Amino acid sequence: MNLFDVYPLFPLNIVQGKGCYVWDENGIKYLDLYGGHAVISIGHSHPHYVEMISNQVSKLGFYSNSVINKIQQEVARRLGIISGYDDYSLFLINSGAEANENAMKLASFHNGRTRIVSFQKSFHGRTSLAVEVTNNPKIIAPINNNSHVVYLPLNDIEAVKAELSKGDVCAVIIEGIQGVGGILTLTGTFLQELRTICTATGTILILDEIQCGYGRSGKFFAHQYAGIKPDIITVAKGIGNGFPMAGVLISPMFTPVYGMLGTTFGGNHLASTAALAVLDIMEKENLIENAAKVGDYLIKELKQFPQIKEVRGRGLMIGLELDEPIKELRSRLLFDYHVFTGVTGTHVIRLLPPLCLSLEEAEEFLSRFKKALN
Ligand SMILES: Cc1ncc(COP(=O)(O)O)c(C=O)c1O
Repeated sequence: MNLFDVYPLFPLNIVQGKGCYVWDENGIKYLDLYGGHAVISIGHSHPHYVEMISNQVSKLGFYSNSVINKIQQEVARRLGIISGYDDYSLFLINSGAEANENAMKLASFHNGRTRIVSFQKSFHGRTSLAVEVTNNPKIIAPINNNSHVVYLPLNDIEAVKAELSKGDVCAVIIEGIQGVGGILTLTGTFLQELRTICTATGTILILDEIQCGYGRSGKFFAHQYAGIKPDIITVAKGIGNGFPMAGVLISPMFTPVYGMLGTTFGGNHLASTAALAVLDIMEKENLIENAAKVGDYLIKELKQFPQIKEVRGRGLMIGLELDEPIKELRSRLLFDYHVFTGVTGTHVIRLLPPLCLSLEEAEEFLSRFKKALN
């Protein structure tokens, strides 16, 4: 059997990782400014993470959500404190799409409505409703195209007001910083006014923090720069540092009912242990502060490069827009200078490194990037 061929692959087999570096099967070492697609938060193969997961799997890897899981309860307690949302509840699942799917389902159970406002260039996943709120017709199958969604321009509060004033919108879903869309930030006033209009119209505000959350922006959540509180927040990627896991943070206004949501694997013993190890390391090594500090430094330095048209983002979520298509530059960076980077569209490089990236490693990247540009 062959693999279903949906990924355009680099001809590289990565077999090992440590901190902000990965190695291929030929022993070549790469600086990882991609974090395996914004997933690696605490760095590759952190010893504390390896030890906690190894110990847990030697005791119990999985049992079902029909019994008490104290590790899951501890994740909720710790996540509530570190994120500033200790009055919210946590529902654990396995992927970002699943988190958004459950968030929108919950919103609809709550207010009985069926229309969703999303934004141009947004990405929220590939399952049925998650893909329908994703503004990319190429990945929406006819069966998922059910007219639930209107896509509005980002940061256009008048367009949102016009839509929400109809009084029948179930939820607004928005990324704290658009990732796939090209690292596009929201203005503080837009988010603040969005919060106000959602409350006034009984519309649920869902913040998708799957890519920009979990410390990546330099605050625990990117929306915290605007000082607002959404009704529902979704997280994934960095939560398990590569262990498949996601979460929905749910405000106290929602009442849980037995059976309304559910999952076989979500929040299992091993995944929850991975999440606890991530929180331990984020706190012990001050990774959120590090993301802010190293991110500010990178953004400041990158703005000096005349070849870059625009530097966007916050913390360690950075987009570099060039005048030229970046395909060749990215290949040169990877194969000649051994640096992994991400991409979005044809002209934007995405930097999404582990949150433990040091100033020295940032310097190393800048020096290799300079050479690759020339
Ligand atoms: C903002 C955002 N939401 C949702 C998703 C979907 O997450 P997953 O691929 O884990 O389903 C992604 C994935 O890239 C994302 O960036």
